[in-house]
Amino acid sequence: MLIENASQVLTLKGGPQRGSRLGELGILSHGAVLVRGETIEAVGDAADLRAAYPNEPGFDAGGRVVMPGFVDPHTHLVWAGDRAAEFELRLQGKTYLEILAAGGGILSTVRASRAAGVDELLQPTRERARALFRHGVTTAEAKTGYALETAGELRELEALLKLDAEGPLEIAPTFLGAHAIAPEYQDDPDGYTDLICREMLPAAAAWWREHAAARPLPFVDVFCETGAFSLAQTRRILETARAAGFPLKVHADEFDNLGGASLAAELGAASADHLVKTSAEDVRAMARTDTVAVALPCTPFGLADPHYTPARDILSADGLLAVASDINPGTAWCENMQFVIALACRYLKLTPAQAIAAATINAAAAIQRAERVGSLEPGKQADLLILTVEDYRHLGYRFGSNLVATVIKKGVVYPVQ
Ligand code: NIG
Ligand code: FE
Repeated sequence: MLIENASQVLTLKGGPQRGSRLGELGILSHGAVLVRGETIEAVGDAADLRAAYPNEPGFDAGGRVVMPGFVDPHTHLVWAGDRAAEFELRLQGKTYLEILAAGGGILSTVRASRAAGVDELLQPTRERARALFRHGVTTAEAKTGYALETAGELRELEALLKLDAEGPLEIAPTFLGAHAIAPEYQDDPDGYTDLICREMLPAAAAWWREHAAARPLPFVDVFCETGAFSLAQTRRILETARAAGFPLKVHADEFDNLGGASLAAELGAASADHLVKTSAEDVRAMARTDTVAVALPCTPFGLADPHYTPARDILSADGLLAVASDINPGTAWCENMQFVIALACRYLKLTPAQAIAAATINAAAAIQRAERVGSLEPGKQADLLILTVEDYRHLGYRFGSNLVATVIKKGVVYPVQ
């Protein structure tokens, strides 16, 4: 089909956008996109494409913006249980790390998720996946991390693969057995680190070979933070994972700077995420590499914390910047990347164009899928959005509503409102 009558086609062509290049939307004001099966066959001037493909069925974009689907490169999508009460505790003055240290927070979701079977995990996770999709996310990374014991972590991985197979949201899974110190090891974090390295990672690799052999290994991520994993423990887990062939990610500098961002750069991680307490030296270390800095502005917003990722410093250092939702039951239950963009414009000081590039092509780079998704270019997967608006800057300007009218995933059209 030929997608035509667009006010603006945002192509985002030319690969991930570093530093001052961020925000090159590659806008065609008389553009069209030819989709063949699951793939984009051509992108160009609408009149030229119509002349070249006179019999192609048309798809009317209604004079609105056409752009790539959003990629959400950091989610904790799979969990069971409820933490609304904890939100209220935080409003009364308890901090996130205090609640975690008292056995709540992540550990409360762990208790509920351990008790859930795959189907019980799948049902609420599927609802969240559908909400992401309705708001324009066509590919999402998704982490395990709410079991903290081998069998339960593998169950969460299984739920994520099932969800991916169901579609239409495509999932890039991450193994996050190192999300918190398991309750059984509260007084022995090195013992839990040992368990991850000696038992969980080999088990995850073996499970993957048996159930998903044709796919690349999932990412391995670690929450490098006071009260979670120290820098030395993080290094040990990531080095063990890397030696087993896993690509890497790190939760770094959410509350304290332990050096996780520089470690991510040193080990060639795909991304370092959160990056609130990140130092100038860490920023420079990341900018020298292809490690993508992933800002999660819903998290400080969700915690009513005034500190955000130093995004402009990352760009001045010529770094690669992406944004993500971090959807999780503790700090940021947000299923809308358009809201992430709105926050990024206000608190990371990005222009709408920069925030859009950070939520598409650079977000794809953060999950090592920039060859396949994140832009509208011939040969790439046909993952597109048709917005309800004529000017892309309404993304960022407006917030709290859904500006996506239609999602096209692998060439299949899903009207979403
Ligand atoms: O990214 N920081 C660690 N993980 C999540 C929070 C998870 C939770 O509270 O359940 C985050 O903010
Ligand atoms: Fe997270």
